Amino acid sequence: MTLTIQQADLSDIDIVHEFFNSFFRLKLEGLSFRPDGMTVDKTRTYLPNTITDSNKLCLTAHWDLEVAGVLSFTRYKKFEYRHCGDFGMAIMPEFWRRGIGSQLLLTMEKWCLANDITKIELAAWSNNIAAINLYESFGFQHEGKRVGSIIRDEKTMDLILMGKQIGGDFS
Ligand SMILES: CC(C)(COP(=O)(O)OP(=O)(O)OC[C@H]1O[C@@H](n2cnc3c(N)ncnc32)[C@H](O)[C@@H]1OP(=O)(O)O)[C@@H](O)C(=O)NCCC(=O)NCCS
Repeated sequence: MTLTIQQADLSDIDIVHEFFNSFFRLKLEGLSFRPDGMTVDKTRTYLPNTITDSNKLCLTAHWDLEVAGVLSFTRYKKFEYRHCGDFGMAIMPEFWRRGIGSQLLLTMEKWCLANDITKIELAAWSNNIAAINLYESFGFQHEGKRVGSIIRDEKTMDLILMGKQIGGDFS
């Protein structure tokens, strides 16, 4: 069994789109289930035109021949925010707890450093304990929360804001 992490670009849209469609069909706890499905146009927004693009990163994790997970990072556009960006990630449940999420985060962090990005941000639903634990274990700090921003099945949840400074001296 081998894990390989690859950088994807627009030429990989079919495999990334198929992954997203299969993943969001699962309607997992802690995530928006996209009632209208994932459109190809939406998938396209997660992919850089080429892997040399320094504003967008899409990683695919392959467990042997299967696509087990995808991570997508986007640099913020405004001038004062360009050292920062945010990301989302998803691993198929049958591949959870095999270290794939951690490897994707590590690869993203290396790419960010190589592209002069020194702050990584994310938002997670407060009931998504797996994701919050993963990010904490990877050095992300809790930076705040948006209270009651999510309602799913009549249950109200917060949006947890997390961030990590990388490289440089932030003391
Ligand atoms: C969150 C997610 C990406 C974790 O991916 P993963 O490949 O299973 O993560 P790893 O195997 O690298 O786990 C690393 C650490 O994270 C924590 N962790 C991961 N899953 C966990 C769970 N279900 N419960 C508690 N802690 C968990 C543990 O500390 C784990 O280390 P350990 O296995 O040595 O105890 C995966 O569960 C997932 O895709 N969930 C659905 C999509 C999602 O929530 N995306 C994030 C939206 S913000």
